[in-house]
Amino acid sequence: MRFRRVLCCLVLPLAAQQDASKDVKKNPAMGNPQAIAAGKTLYMASCVACHGPNGQGGRGPNLRQRIAWHPLEDEALFKTIQKGVPGTDMPPANLPEERLWQMAAFVRSLTAPAIESPAAGDAAAGEALFRGKAGCSHCHRIQGVGGMLGPDLTNIAAIRPMADLRESILDPDADGFPRHKGVTVTLKSGRVVKGVARNRTNYSIQVQDAQGDLHLLRMADVKELTLSGHSPMPRDYKDKLSPEELDNLLAYLSRQSIRPYEAPEKK
Ligand code: HEC
Ligand code: HEC
Repeated sequence: MRFRRVLCCLVLPLAAQQDASKDVKKNPAMGNPQAIAAGKTLYMASCVACHGPNGQGGRGPNLRQRIAWHPLEDEALFKTIQKGVPGTDMPPANLPEERLWQMAAFVRSLTAPAIESPAAGDAAAGEALFRGKAGCSHCHRIQGVGGMLGPDLTNIAAIRPMADLRESILDPDADGFPRHKGVTVTLKSGRVVKGVARNRTNYSIQVQDAQGDLHLLRMADVKELTLSGHSPMPRDYKDKLSPEELDNLLAYLSRQSIRPYEAPEKK
């Protein structure tokens, strides 16, 4: 009898602990546009110097390319930001938990499909802009309506992270967007390599093909090299759209997914 009672007292706190750790695993800020916006503000204050304004990296790794850092679960990401990476330049962030979750949600939004972390803003106003004044639908279709020159954006939020959507509009030729600079290289041997130009010097060019394989080609072996021109996306949205209009457009685009968006459960 006595033994039993002890056991019961031992088990209870254990169960309680397990429950608490289950709670920690899910980021309460994920998918919450306001929290992600707050996380971005924090990121701009404490992380930008090493990871770059768009997460493209510098002293720290590029946080937009999945291969540049570990695929971390919510909780591990939280701990990395909280504690830093000992023995490296990555410092601990001394912030309250709520702030850390917001920052983790923002970092996650750099690689997660936009539909998982839709932008704050007025999506209906964004749609009006898309179909009206901003002229996006001259070139892009959504749900079967719009032009054909640019890619169909009906499912864009399921395949691109938020940061990519933003960059597509503001800086269509940005370096973060290798897919915009197509290249066809014909070698003297007759071999043809098609893909996207990654690094180019006077002596060599690195081409990534549609399978993702990298080919380092010596210019001495190249017979002909055709770089496709700029992205046909207009270059002046950066100046033409007000910050509010951009937010609204992103709110609209970040909800375009064939599978409907399911809001995370409210806690
Ligand atoms: C002084 C430079 C510096 C600052 C400031 C900094 N980082 Fe880092 N960060 C690094 C370096 C360096 C690494 C790579 C560590 C390693 O080698 O694993 C890193 C790695 C990371 C990783 C990937 C960890 C992994 O396991 O792959 C994340 C996520 C990250 N940083 C987020 C942040 C966030 C969020 C902030 C702001 C709170 C921040 N960093 C501030 C330098 C920095
Ligand atoms: C003159 C035609 C044209 C207009 C106008 C235009 N785009 Fe584009 N857009 C394109 C083309 C072509 C591409 C594909 C090449 C590229 O990725 O740059 C593209 C690419 C994109 C992408 C990236 C698609 C992907 O697969 O990642 C997004 C997002 C986008 N446009 C959004 C917009 C928005 C929002 C507007 C209006 C504010 C707009 N575009 C206006 C032609 C246009």
